[in-house]
Amino acid sequence: MAKSKANNTLSITDNRTGKQYDLPIENDTIKAMDLRQIKVKKDDFGMMSYDPAYSNTASCTSRVTFIDGDKGELMYRGYPIDVLAKKSNFLEVSYLLLNGKLPNKKEFNTFEGNIMNHTMIHENIKKFIDGFRYDAHPMGMLMSTVAALSTFYPESKDIFDEETRKIQIHRLIAKMPTLAAFAYRHSMGMPYAYPDNDLSYAGNFLNMLYKMTELKYKPDPIMEKAIDVLLILHADHEQNCSASAMRNVGSSHPDPYSATAASIAALYGPLHGGANEGVLQMLAEIGHKDNIPKAIKAAKNGEFRLMGFGHRVYKSYDPRATIIKDIAHDVFQVTGKNPYLDIALELERIALEDEYFVKRKLYPNVDFYSGLIYQSMGIPTEMFTVLFAIGRTPGWLAQWKELLLDPERRIARPRQVYLGDKNLKYVPMSKRK
Ligand code: CMC
Repeated sequence: MAKSKANNTLSITDNRTGKQYDLPIENDTIKAMDLRQIKVKKDDFGMMSYDPAYSNTASCTSRVTFIDGDKGELMYRGYPIDVLAKKSNFLEVSYLLLNGKLPNKKEFNTFEGNIMNHTMIHENIKKFIDGFRYDAHPMGMLMSTVAALSTFYPESKDIFDEETRKIQIHRLIAKMPTLAAFAYRHSMGMPYAYPDNDLSYAGNFLNMLYKMTELKYKPDPIMEKAIDVLLILHADHEQNCSASAMRNVGSSHPDPYSATAASIAALYGPLHGGANEGVLQMLAEIGHKDNIPKAIKAAKNGEFRLMGFGHRVYKSYDPRATIIKDIAHDVFQVTGKNPYLDIALELERIALEDEYFVKRKLYPNVDFYSGLIYQSMGIPTEMFTVLFAIGRTPGWLAQWKELLLDPERRIARPRQVYLGDKNLKYVPMSKRK
């Protein structure tokens, strides 16, 4: 490919035919469909681009989240993540992601009221949770109960009605912590603690996790703040695996509960949100600082992945990891230092100096330190990805809303390069070798 003399076009010469094509460039991008005109014979299908894992394919235009992976920058609707983590709160950030602007006081109060009004779940949903085995993974419980919500709100299928869409968005953001906390209490064999809407969003979540016999649960302000900031840091991350699941599934127009359940499934995997659980398991396996060189060697030999390291987009320090490291310091002042912290710090130090990690630009990501904080707060390892899911919900919904309002939206339907056989002769089973 060579650059055309004409502005804002890309000239491609097909050496098979000698033909030249001028493709328009917009936002440093060519349209993959413009390649289709490139053919050798008239009845050829036409050229496609091949991009497994979409490493260099923009699947949409978006105004929600900006990431510069080389500079380690992350912005929601134009606001840098460190500013939001310092000055905002999770519900304000949720409003920002969903509406594209920060709310004024009245808008915020209405939004907060709407969310806190929807924190209860139908008693029948509680019965679903009762039906899970005592050792069911909370992500499995969350995924299936979120999907089940679609049957409680059949009107949610009316996705192009603005008011209906808004109510489901409020319900989803409101009910995620309740479902998550109920799943936790179920696995602990404890009675469910109902929402307390006098508390903040994060404070109420802690209430539903930890309330015992006291009449009113009082969250520790440092824990409450830490949870709130962690939710902000997880709120969106542009077209990652679970957001892409939301957009792919959402493009066939199901209700948002079904599409969110698909996103939760995508997040569950150890290469995505499940990594925070993986980090703690890895630190427990390493067990002592003396065992780190062995672990690094195994990671370099491809025997295992250093969980919490590396990112498809960040090729420098994940800005969320920097903020999380600071919160960890505050939380450990209350809870006492996490025994795995020293192993984590030493692992990070060695990895950041090691040629293998330096060459591949593998830095700690958001999941590297978040698990240590959750663990110090007494949150069990299986709940870590659930917390990620609560935080990511407004992001998924902002991506979903943007998709539905996009005039270029069509059902997601990728192409393939077929390399298999064709027109084989069917041999009856009795005659096969
Ligand atoms: N430990 C050791 N080697 C690694 C790691 C790791 N964590 N991550 C990547 N590499 C190596 C990989 O083996 C490959 O080496 P080579 O070029 O010699 O084959 C090279 O680095 C590039 O890796 P890749 O698999 O092509 O990178 P990717 O962009 O496909 O994967 C990733 C990104 C996040 C899935 C991967 O870095 C990983 O598996 N990390 C561990 C899991 C993790 O922490 N995930 C959380 C991501 S952040 C939260 C979120 O957004 O969900």
